[in-house]
Amino acid sequence: MRAGAGVTAGRVRGGLCRGHREPTVDDVKAHRGEHPGNHADQAVTVSGLSKSFGTDTTRFWALTDIELTVAPRSFTAIMGPSGSGKTTLLNCLLGLEKPDTGSIRIGGTDITGLDETQLAEMRRSHVGVVFQSYNLIPSLTVADNISLPLRLAGRRIDRGRVRDLAETVGVGATLERRPAQLSGGQQQRVAFARALVTDPELIVADEPTGALDTASSDVVLGLLRSIVTDLGQRVLLVTHDPRAAAVADRVVFLRDGRRHGELRGADEGRIAATLTDLGQRS
Ligand SMILES: Nc1ncnc2c1ncn2[C@@H]1O[C@H](COP(=O)(O)OP(=O)(O)O)[C@@H](O)[C@H]1O
Ligand SMILES: [Mg+2]
Repeated sequence: MRAGAGVTAGRVRGGLCRGHREPTVDDVKAHRGEHPGNHADQAVTVSGLSKSFGTDTTRFWALTDIELTVAPRSFTAIMGPSGSGKTTLLNCLLGLEKPDTGSIRIGGTDITGLDETQLAEMRRSHVGVVFQSYNLIPSLTVADNISLPLRLAGRRIDRGRVRDLAETVGVGATLERRPAQLSGGQQQRVAFARALVTDPELIVADEPTGALDTASSDVVLGLLRSIVTDLGQRVLLVTHDPRAAAVADRVVFLRDGRRHGELRGADEGRIAATLTDLGQRS
């Protein structure tokens, strides 16, 4: 059993959903029925992905020949020394960077073939993103922040669903407040509800605990775990924190833009040792 994972998730689950039934996978599937375009059971696959920056004379390969499959209902952490290509990989998955070669399949579509309009639609409806800085809109209420992706996508706003999601992540009592009236941990929970509202194929979290104290980090990590275990989502987490990575099912390591092995079910100590070893050899 992974040290930290069960403890954290268990603790958080106890703190979540007060007076509210936890959504089951069947609830989620029923909800998915509303969106026939959602291919949530297909793996997200990255194949032969390479990305370079610069000109012919100064070309620098930020990613080389990356292979990565992210199964449905799985939780993968990406780790590696600074400059190893983590952010570039996320940006490629979000369609913010165009790879030189390779394919990225999300929801049955190779996104490397999409134009800017289609990529914007993909980002709005098929991938949920959570950043280190919560990126909530200060002038909007919590409820309106959560439903914003639906509004941007021109989709019907189901107030009941927004309320249920807010309760699931533990901010049900704050729906009419503004972000500034919430703690950092609460704001990050709102960001998670916003990422989940479109029922995306993939949730991408870029250092989501980077700005939080230990207690709030534990809540967010437990939330990530429960998004996968209880809501059946698929999560890709970029982190430099072995404690955060230990909550994932597996940790994929990058070094100098290449895949450099992975660990499954490893504890914090083993992840930290592997990371140190990678950093020293790069
Ligand atoms: N827009 C860019 N132009 C030039 N080089 C870049 C650009 N983005 C990233 N790089 C380079 O690619 C490498 C990988 O960067 P990045 O993906 O940000 O690494 P990480 O997130 O693991 O720290 C680094 O050497 C970085 O300097
Ligand atoms: Mg980075």
